[in-house]
Amino acid sequence: MGQKPPPKDRESMTVAALEDEIHRHNRLYFEDNAPVISDEDFDRLVRRLRKIKPDSPILHEIPSDTKTSIKGFKKIRREVPMLSLDKCYSEKELYQWAEKFEGDVMGSPKIDGSAVELRYDEKGHLSLAATRGEGIEGEEITENVKRIADIPQKIPPHPPLPKGGQFPCSYPPFSKGGEGGLEIRGEIYMRLSVFRTFDQDFANPRNLAAGALKQKDPDMTKKYHLSFFGYDVLGVDLQTEGDKKALLERLGIPTVPMEVVQKKEMQKFYEKLLTQRETYDFETDGIVFKAFEIKEQGRLGMTAHHPRYAIAYKFQGDSGTTRVKDVEWSVSRTQVITPVCIVEPVRLSGASVSRASLHNVGLMRQHGLRIGSQVMMVRRGGVIPYLESVIEEGRGAPMTLPEKCPSCGAPTEVRDDFLYCTNKENCFGTRIGVLEHFVKAMEIDGFGRKLLERLYETGLVKDPADFYRLKSEDLLDLERMGETLATKLIGNIRARRRLPADQFLRALGIRELAQHASRLLIQHFHTLDRLMEATEGEIAALHSLGEVIAREVVSGLRAKKGLIARLRRSITLIGQQVSQEKKGPLAGLKVCFTGTLGALSRPAAQKKVEEAGGEAVNTITQDLAYLVIGKQGGGGSKLSKAQALQKKGASLQILDEDRFWGLLKG
Ligand code: IVH
Repeated sequence: MGQKPPPKDRESMTVAALEDEIHRHNRLYFEDNAPVISDEDFDRLVRRLRKIKPDSPILHEIPSDTKTSIKGFKKIRREVPMLSLDKCYSEKELYQWAEKFEGDVMGSPKIDGSAVELRYDEKGHLSLAATRGEGIEGEEITENVKRIADIPQKIPPHPPLPKGGQFPCSYPPFSKGGEGGLEIRGEIYMRLSVFRTFDQDFANPRNLAAGALKQKDPDMTKKYHLSFFGYDVLGVDLQTEGDKKALLERLGIPTVPMEVVQKKEMQKFYEKLLTQRETYDFETDGIVFKAFEIKEQGRLGMTAHHPRYAIAYKFQGDSGTTRVKDVEWSVSRTQVITPVCIVEPVRLSGASVSRASLHNVGLMRQHGLRIGSQVMMVRRGGVIPYLESVIEEGRGAPMTLPEKCPSCGAPTEVRDDFLYCTNKENCFGTRIGVLEHFVKAMEIDGFGRKLLERLYETGLVKDPADFYRLKSEDLLDLERMGETLATKLIGNIRARRRLPADQFLRALGIRELAQHASRLLIQHFHTLDRLMEATEGEIAALHSLGEVIAREVVSGLRAKKGLIARLRRSITLIGQQVSQEKKGPLAGLKVCFTGTLGALSRPAAQKKVEEAGGEAVNTITQDLAYLVIGKQGGGGSKLSKAQALQKKGASLQILDEDRFWGLLKG
């Protein structure tokens, strides 16, 4: 892989380097679904090659039709551009902005996704969906968007909506002949809970969602489980942002959580959302405020880039600059060696950050990192530390790739943007990664990395099947291991002898087989035995899986045939049942306990919840069903977060312990 020059050097790239670079990004985009540069940067590379070598064969890999974009999507033009938002970073700037208009504001979290517009025809059918693109010109992605469950393909027949009126509510929604239709704008994003189910190292949910949305095969989009929030309706005469929200809800469009806020309360609203942010299942980097009255919006108008009636008030403290001290290399269960950047500690979103994954060596090279480089670090959505950009490269030593695996010393090799350990069988880091993945996926509690390392070193557990041969006496020889703990650990393993086939499948650690694909495969083939007989063709034909996954599944199952047989001597797979289909009064519901419980210990209470088909969780999220308050000390931050969510309309219930157990019995 050729070293990728920083953007400033692109002008001086040779033709061959440019061709290599375009070919590489094409592959990363279309085959690996893991683009590492933006569409705009990619377009720039292609434009440059077209200029200096118009007959380059590489250009045939890229659609050249002027009505389609570089990646083959048809371009559409819109009459009302999709603009970006003006930003502010201080209370003072925010209040200066609000002085310009009368009335209240509508406040909502700014969603970190991709802006899209949806057009519904007069009969309510989704007739077109397009990206924002450069504002006026976007790309048509209708078929891909039709695979997003949140987006209705048909909206209920709406009574003739009053049209006309003044800007901005009367813009002609369709170029020509779209009378009676509606245009909805909003953000497509990936939920954090979905993002976490992807095993591969994607930098962040926004990039993954953007890549998922622009798949050549629309069925591929479906497998990413994207979500949608609407925030704007065009083509109807409405009085307020509140009317828009009500209309969107009536049409069955999920709306971004929004609230009417008095101008003087804007800072307070900001602080409230700042604390609520960790409960959201999406990334947000600030708050969007809009003038509430549409009349006022029309009076303020817009610049070429942004409307004057809206502003994004960014969360502060999420980003900061620091210096790179070193790079560490971490080996994963898939033999990928990932660079982790060590920086001088910097405070971001209230926590000290001293390391951030660089995800892959391609990204590391793209940044052109050196020891001592000054970098901008961000906690995306206030959570995941991320190296955003290099501010000053500096003159320190450039970062080099290790020629030997830092864990086992075997030679390394670079394939595309990833560095691999070539020792397939017994690299220590890889083996520990496999065991760690297994216990996590099987939900066997108590086996942290340190313990797994000790078990591996002593030869007690070399592969996942060895867990089921362990006896508590074996564990007693380990340092700091008492009888109680040993018995408990063995009990935890025994408790996971009967489990749904899809969970078992995922625990095997076959590449590409994360939660969703495993579930789908068992739902289709019913049993593991039947799946093990399936051909690549049969698997690839499944909706939303593809050839890459099919190949990995077939070869992975073949390679792990021995391990599967050994594991199945101790494990019973629950027939055709998949992990999702839990039965019982709490089936599919999440329950969180807070404070000290009177009736039962916390683990016993959590077990009861699981026996009733529910999921015991420790964080307050919007999809939580019950927060159960213990007899003592249950009024802390969990309670206030849950109350805040309730106010916003979440359907979660807050119950004391007695009422909860009563409910369960009833
Ligand atoms: S209101 C300019 N509300 O952020 C139109 N936009 O960076 C303002 N966005 O293009 C629309 N969350 O796609 C609005 N809660 C929210 C939003 C939001 C994200 C997007 C929007 C805009 C981009 C600007």
